Amino acid sequence: MSESTSQPSNESVTITVGADGPLEVSGPVEIIAADGTVLRATSKAYLCRCGHSANKPFCDGAHKREGFVDAGLGG
Ligand code: FES
Repeated sequence: MSESTSQPSNESVTITVGADGPLEVSGPVEIIAADGTVLRATSKAYLCRCGHSANKPFCDGAHKREGFVDAGLGG
């Protein structure tokens, strides 16, 4: 697995669980694949948590079509 070459950031990253939808990642992040490939370096990403996206780990909106329901409150 390769290591990231980017510098650490002091900016915080937050992950917000969306009601009936994806995880919203805000902050300077790299989304890295299982083989170490950087899929995306960004300040905003939406990650699938319903399991139906055809573009995992990213949300492609399939949660709406599939009727994914979760209040996003934890537990
Ligand atoms: S959460 Fe949007 S496609 Fe899964």
